[in-house]
Amino acid sequence: MGASARQGGAILWFTGLSGSGKSTLAAAVGARLTPAVPVEILDGDEIRKQLSADLGYTKEARDTNIRRIGFVARLLARHGVFVIAAAISPYAATRHEVRLLARDEGIPFLEVFLSARLETLVQRDTKGLYKRALAGELLHFTGVSDPYEAPTHPDGIILTDDESVEVSTQKALALLAQYGLVKIPVGDAL
Ligand SMILES: Nc1ncnc2c1ncn2[C@@H]1O[C@H](COP(=O)(O)OP(=O)(O)O)[C@@H](O)[C@H]1O
Ligand SMILES: [Mg+2]
Repeated sequence: MGASARQGGAILWFTGLSGSGKSTLAAAVGARLTPAVPVEILDGDEIRKQLSADLGYTKEARDTNIRRIGFVARLLARHGVFVIAAAISPYAATRHEVRLLARDEGIPFLEVFLSARLETLVQRDTKGLYKRALAGELLHFTGVSDPYEAPTHPDGIILTDDESVEVSTQKALALLAQYGLVKIPVGDAL
């Protein structure tokens, strides 16, 4: 049941502020695609503990982090894995760069913007970071004390403010179906 595999891998790239739902939706979408599709999630927080443990939060460091995630995503997608990247990815030009590198290899790449009002994010404050950033204790906190360049032409936008995780997950799956990345059988639970 659920999604059936498209031949070859693909990259679903979630971008959005901290707390916008990237990790939550990556896990939920991933769970819906497996086991029909091999899925790997490249989560920003985890990557920063492993592959990018050496990096800080300057623009250059953030760009390097995103390039690394893009690189690993391509390696996996080349071998038929459906990759979900869940990292803030604050800079438009760098997102564009990783997209082009994927496209150059014929790897489908969807940039999906997870958008929520700052007010909602501050209310959610799952990691207590907004509170600290707004108090001036955290320099370089994206959306408060560091830039976030919202996508102007994303392949999809999911407004996670006022809808449940399940509804947002279905919207993400619908986007994948719309772009032909997965085939959702007619009559399935979507
Ligand atoms: N529609 C939604 N989509 C995703 N997350 C949502 C949604 N509504 C509420 N949330 C909640 O918002 C929080 C998002 O946190 P998280 O996924 O860690 O964000 P990020 O990885 O972008 O920092 C979670 O606590 C999640 O349960
Ligand atoms: Mg996260």
